[in-house]
Amino acid sequence: MSDETLSNLLTENRTFAPPADLAADANVKADAYAAAAADHEGFWAEQAGRLDWAEPFTQVLDDTAAPFYKWFVGGKLNVAHNCVDRHVAAGRGDQVAIHFVGEPGDTRSITYSDLKDEVSRAANAIEELGIVAGDRVAIYMPMIPEAVVAMLACARVGATHTVVFGGFSADALASRIEDCNAKLVITADGGYRRGAPSALKPAVDAALEKIDNATTAIVENVLVVRRTGQDVAWNTDVDVWWHEVVDESSTDHRAQAFDAEHPLFVMYSSGTTGKPKGILHTTAGYLVGTAYTHHAVFDLKPETDVYWCTADVGWITGHSYIVYGPLANGVTQVLYEGTPDTPHKGRWWEIIQDYKVTLFYTAPTAIRTFMKWGRSIPDEYDLSSLRLLGSVGEPINPEAYMWYREVIGGDRCPIVDTWWQTETGMMMISPLPGVTAGKPGSAMTALPGVGADVVSEDGVPVPNGSGGYLVLTKPWPSMLRTLLGDDERFVDTYWSKYKEQGWYFAGDGAKKDDDGAIWLLGRVDDVMNVSGHRLSTTEIESALVSHPRVAEAAVVGAADETTGQAVVAYVILREGASAGATGEELVQELRNHVAKEIGAIAKPRSIMLVPELPKTRSGKIMRRLLKDVAENRTVGDTTTLADAGVMALIAEGQKTST
Ligand code: WTA
Repeated sequence: MSDETLSNLLTENRTFAPPADLAADANVKADAYAAAAADHEGFWAEQAGRLDWAEPFTQVLDDTAAPFYKWFVGGKLNVAHNCVDRHVAAGRGDQVAIHFVGEPGDTRSITYSDLKDEVSRAANAIEELGIVAGDRVAIYMPMIPEAVVAMLACARVGATHTVVFGGFSADALASRIEDCNAKLVITADGGYRRGAPSALKPAVDAALEKIDNATTAIVENVLVVRRTGQDVAWNTDVDVWWHEVVDESSTDHRAQAFDAEHPLFVMYSSGTTGKPKGILHTTAGYLVGTAYTHHAVFDLKPETDVYWCTADVGWITGHSYIVYGPLANGVTQVLYEGTPDTPHKGRWWEIIQDYKVTLFYTAPTAIRTFMKWGRSIPDEYDLSSLRLLGSVGEPINPEAYMWYREVIGGDRCPIVDTWWQTETGMMMISPLPGVTAGKPGSAMTALPGVGADVVSEDGVPVPNGSGGYLVLTKPWPSMLRTLLGDDERFVDTYWSKYKEQGWYFAGDGAKKDDDGAIWLLGRVDDVMNVSGHRLSTTEIESALVSHPRVAEAAVVGAADETTGQAVVAYVILREGASAGATGEELVQELRNHVAKEIGAIAKPRSIMLVPELPKTRSGKIMRRLLKDVAENRTVGDTTTLADAGVMALIAEGQKTST
């Protein structure tokens, strides 16, 4: 973010007080902050009362092996029971849990009773396939109810799931299956995207081939949902149809209680090195944290609200705020399979109108896309059911905030801009809709029970009006427990920078305004944020270098009006490797190569073929300078460059190619 944007942000002084009726009837009021501050553990122990425990915990927080914290020690519960069965037991079996909207227009409304039957059947079926507590299951699915059912079935039997976003490539899927040793993969023939069936099963087949499953047999079965009916290759040793085994299974399944710290899921996320990190979340603390924040930040009234989070279940937002938090709270929600522009650009607004959605949660990148399409599209629909809007994934710029507020929220709905991460599991910094007077572009303050501050390099909290690094100062229940198989990287990445203080280093830059409200300024490391998705510069560089024509690559995230950041790559070709495509054709080939290695989301927006890369004398690529070029700025300080002429060459090349 440039200094100019930053000072614009900090002079942003509009505020929007909560609507009076919402404030009067809010789930969480202002006193929650003081209560939580006075007794951190007591506050979270009270929130734990939102769940059904098979055995009560004996200690709220065990910090003896910090940063390897344990929450709700000695407690036992079953996550699926909490998200499904107990609502049925409470007489709410007929309430709709999920209004599913398929992209082609097919719909299904699934009540909590239906969901209980479906999850129980799936749990029986995967047990029949040999899955026991502690096993790992990879889920690679479109946005269909079976994805939610698969996750809950794993939770029910104590298997740890890792959901791999359907947009990831076979290679990315293979590395995740291998890293977590998945015994079962749950997938579908395909899903509908942009008006056509989009295959998934072939990527699973290719992934198994890549890990040489025929020899190593890591994956014993692939359970396949039939969604599109497209042709699939079938390996009878491994592949099983969902409708053959799940539909045939009994709806009776006794859910066993698991330890509070039983591993619930692993979510891979990009870090600063090429290898994605397997972020581990456990059972009780995660569910307490997501349930409480969903209740507090969305002010959920489960009997009357209709909630819709547009994220994919393949990301943490889908885990925490489609599956676990909302279902633990007994929500009625919409689940939509497809893209916002299929079959027309008003699809989302039509869904809000049809289902009378009251609480809506989406990402700034989507809002900016709709702004580009124009307000006449949402204006055609009745959006008067909405009462609260949420934003997540990246900073929401004031323009997008105002558009969201006025055009979608009819100037009446508060906006909750929620800052959090895959690692935090739950929202950490956000307005409380019945309490906070929101400012366009600020995530405002830490939620009750959360400690956040902005500090200097050497660990001193900065005064209001200044910027620094965002840290989390107190342990919270849904914190990641480690990186799968790599405790050392866990400690190094998050807990070593402010070891003395015991603070969690978030990797984000932030600023406190004159009132102490927090404004997020983006990542301070080599992680990019493209359309709210985290991508690692190094990971994309490795993908480029794995192409036989590429000698070296440098990747930067350049500011982009719609996607927040866009991937821009600078590539040096191998000498002598001149056979094959050149120019634009080669650039296309390289872009497709990245899509194949990682997934379409990682495709560079542009690739520049350059003769040299700017490096320090110690050989480190100076991405900062490349970012200046990519964002058409005057190139900054080049004094530490080993060869000062390099930037002139690159800038010259950029001019001629754009
Ligand atoms: C960024 C997504 C500003 C931030 C839930 C963080 C945000 C990273 C916001 C985590 C927000 C997320 N305002 N920045 N409201 N929400 N971020 O793990 O840089 O995919 O570190 O989790 O997204 O991305 P992740």
